[in-house]
This record gives sequence, C-alpha cells and structure tokens, in this order.
Amino acid sequence: LNPDTFTAHVDWPIGVFDSGVGGLTVLRALRERMPHECFIYLGDTARLPYGTKSAASVQRYSLQAASALAQRGVKSLVVACNTASAVALPVLQERFARIDVIGVVEPGARAGCRLSRSGVIAVIATESTVRGGAYQRAIAALRPDARVLTQACSLFVALAEEGWNEGPIVEAIAHRYLDPILTEGSPDTLLLGCTHFPVLANALRKVVGPQIAIVDSANTTAVEVEERLRGAGLLRAAGASAVQFLATDGAERFARVGSLFLGETVRPEQVEIVDLGAPQA
Ligand code: DGL
Repeated sequence: LNPDTFTAHVDWPIGVFDSGVGGLTVLRALRERMPHECFIYLGDTARLPYGTKSAASVQRYSLQAASALAQRGVKSLVVACNTASAVALPVLQERFARIDVIGVVEPGARAGCRLSRSGVIAVIATESTVRGGAYQRAIAALRPDARVLTQACSLFVALAEEGWNEGPIVEAIAHRYLDPILTEGSPDTLLLGCTHFPVLANALRKVVGPQIAIVDSANTTAVEVEERLRGAGLLRAAGASAVQFLATDGAERFARVGSLFLGETVRPEQVEIVDLGAPQA
C-alpha cells in the first residue's frame, strides 16, 4: 500500500513500534482500552538500543520502522518509544501526513503533571530522550511552575531486555541512578519516560519508597489514541482483536522477553522477522 495516497479504513490495524519489546507495555494498555482493535507491533530489535544513539540515527530508524508499518496499511501509528517520540515525532508526522502519528512523550507529561501535587517531577529516560529536552518542554507547556529533574538510566533498558526486573542488582543500579535526584529536589512524582521501565516498577518502588507516585505514559497514550480514532470515525465498535508481531531480529528472544512486557504469552512462531531495508528519504 502507498501511504502517500491511501485513505485509512476502520478495519485496518493500529501500527505500534518501539526499538524492542518495551513498547509492548503500551500495546498492553492499548488492547485493554480498545478490545476490538487489531494491532501490528514492530520491535526494531536488531538496532536496539535507540536511547544511546544520535538524533539523526534515531530519526532514520524511526522512518524505516514507520514506513514498514505504513506499507502494510495502518489507520494510526503509535510511536511506543519515548526516544523515537522525543527526537523523531515531527519528522514522522511530516513524512506520513495521511496517518495520525501519536507519540508517548506528551501523554506521559500529562500523566505526570496530573499526579504531581508539589510540581517537582523526576523524569527518568534514555540518554537521547533526556538530552533532547522533550519531556522538559512538554511539562513546562502543561505546567509552567513545575520543576523537572531528569536522569538518564541507560542500564535499565538492558536490565529490562534481559528480563531482570527485580532483585538486589536492579535495586543497586536504581539507587545509583535515583539517589542523586531524590536528594537534589524531593520530587513527589517519578515519571517513567521510557517504555522499557514499567517492568521495573516493583524494584523502583522499593528504591523510592511509598510516598512518590510512579507513573508512565501507557494509559494516557491509550486514551489519546482512542479519542483520536473516535474523532476520525475510525474506532471499531465490535469484532475480534488480533495482534501481529514483527521484529528485526531474534524471534525466540522477542517472544520470551516480550511475554513479560505484554503480560501474556507470545510464541516465537508468532513473530515474523522483517528487514527494514534501505533508508527512507
Ligand atoms: N523503549 C525506548 C524508549 O521508550 C528505549 C529503549 C532504547 O534505548 O532503545 O525510550
């Protein structure tokens, strides 16, 4: 299908992509919110992590991933990766003007601002997301009085992809990253600005204690996608749901670790390996 000329159809799936399995935490919320929708999920596992790469590389990878989904026919496109949302959303929206492209940064910022009473919000994310300042800008736009503390937590992505989501090693690493921002500004809200981090929530809770609200963008993104589809007359009111999984490498690994993120079993034979091909102009 040619995404420059097609008109989205209500029965088409919603496209979702991430650098790996992290975006499955968003897919899970999307499915819970919209039980009649079909989805195509693409994890660019061959090139993970995005979070330590330059903006130019992340934009190129994101264009390729989005293009692979668009060519299959998707009625909307969810960028279920904070790094890609933070540095590539405008590029994607421009390139795929006929598809509603929705990122996770703005919905995440909204969730954080809604929960925080004091207005001191700690954002943990990948290096590229923090460096680009997208969360800082999104929060400032919603709540100009907020104080935003940021910390890049690159190792969390590796821990989550390894399926190490709890235990003393995870907690020790979390202390190393979080102790400085906890003492620096006493945030009342910890915003998980990376779709890999929700699986570490139990360990993070132990480290930050019971008082700090922990929030991510999955649910607010799902609400936004639903509202936009309804507004466009593209929300399915009935019918069975289905998910197609695509990855750029490692079906077995994607299935094994992805099951943890999705909260249900994914089998390797359900995962189609795709080659994202030549860079898009
Ligand atoms: N899941 C991606 C995000 O939300 C980060 C993982 C990566 O570094 O590729 O930012």
